[in-house]
Amino acid sequence: MWSYVRTNTRIQSLSFSLSVDQCHLASISFQFARCFIDDIQYKSYEIVLELCPTKQVVSFLIERSPDVTCIIDLVKEEMGGKNTKTFKIQDDSKNTYRKIPLHTVEGLPIPTSIFTPENLRSAISYKARPEDVFIVTYPKCGTTWMQYIVWEIINEGAPLPSFDDMNMKYTPFLELTGGEVAETMKPPRLLKVHLPYHLTPHHPDAKYILVARSPFDCCVSFYHHTKKIKNCYHFEDGTFDDFFECFIRGEVHYGDFFDHLLSWWPHRQDPNVFFTTYEEMKLNPENSVMNVAKFLGNNYWEKLRDDKDILNKILENTGFNNMKEKLQYNIGHDGDSDQKVEFFRKGQVGEWKENFSDEQYRRLKKHMMQKTEGTDIPQLWKDL
Ligand code: A3P
Repeated sequence: MWSYVRTNTRIQSLSFSLSVDQCHLASISFQFARCFIDDIQYKSYEIVLELCPTKQVVSFLIERSPDVTCIIDLVKEEMGGKNTKTFKIQDDSKNTYRKIPLHTVEGLPIPTSIFTPENLRSAISYKARPEDVFIVTYPKCGTTWMQYIVWEIINEGAPLPSFDDMNMKYTPFLELTGGEVAETMKPPRLLKVHLPYHLTPHHPDAKYILVARSPFDCCVSFYHHTKKIKNCYHFEDGTFDDFFECFIRGEVHYGDFFDHLLSWWPHRQDPNVFFTTYEEMKLNPENSVMNVAKFLGNNYWEKLRDDKDILNKILENTGFNNMKEKLQYNIGHDGDSDQKVEFFRKGQVGEWKENFSDEQYRRLKKHMMQKTEGTDIPQLWKDL
């Protein structure tokens, strides 16, 4: 079976797979005209590929190597017994992309190497209480920023706790820790989930804070996150083009961006829901902090209104540069001592413009318009 991946007009890689015998599968991929078989057993074996993009044809030259005769025979068979093969390129690029290994649990795609099905189920079955405050975002939409803002308001601008403490103790990430952690916390319990509405633990008096972000910037941020956390996503060799294909199909951790947003959208004006966007927070952080304080309780809002020192401390502490400087280096390792997980990367609005091709822009825009038809969601990001 032959396939290739094309970026814009340039061919990026070409690959085919074939059964060597009943238990082996050799996967051979070509990068820019030359590469090696990606299997230790066949390392000595080289395949030369010649590209003629203008004529839209590709030819292969198979060079013999003594220990891989059976592969050569199979390749030759696939190529009609010849040493070279010329065939027409079909644009099936949208079907050949590097996938993120995920398993679907309770309808959500998750990387089970780190996020266990047990903890996900335990998070979902946690019984929400009236004093609970849930931060309920789709990944990479400003969750961490909001976690710290809420914690800072309640703790009157105290020094920032470490990222790990925040995610395991102070605002535990329930799908990672399991719901039991919340049982031992004192109210008000601050809890982080990335769950859609129907899976989030509900109590009519509990509070829910939702931060949405432009799907375009979210996609870029999520790409870096997925690529960087190697032992969780196993996507370190994935390109942005690969990730884009995964993102637009909802084949990413937590599934489709719009499914998450659409699940919360009808509840955004419920009295116990506070809805905002990352872009709004960036535009006016002070307003955002005051609005969150008001939502948490008049006492918090009045405190900040009357004590500008505390308000200023919170704004200073939760500013991007400060969080990056103070917290970047106490984020847990992903198993590789050189790899730090970047939760504070660029913190910009509109970075997608540097990453998306025109075609990707059109496709995600079309996907957004289709998924959100009949809602005002596109109004959130009018300049897209
Ligand atoms: P980028 O990757 O675009 O930089 P989450 O916390 O949901 O994983 O979201 C992470 C995104 O929020 C990252 O976006 C990160 O840089 C950004 N972010 C984190 N803290 C921030 C802050 N204090 N101000 C602005 N953006 C912040």
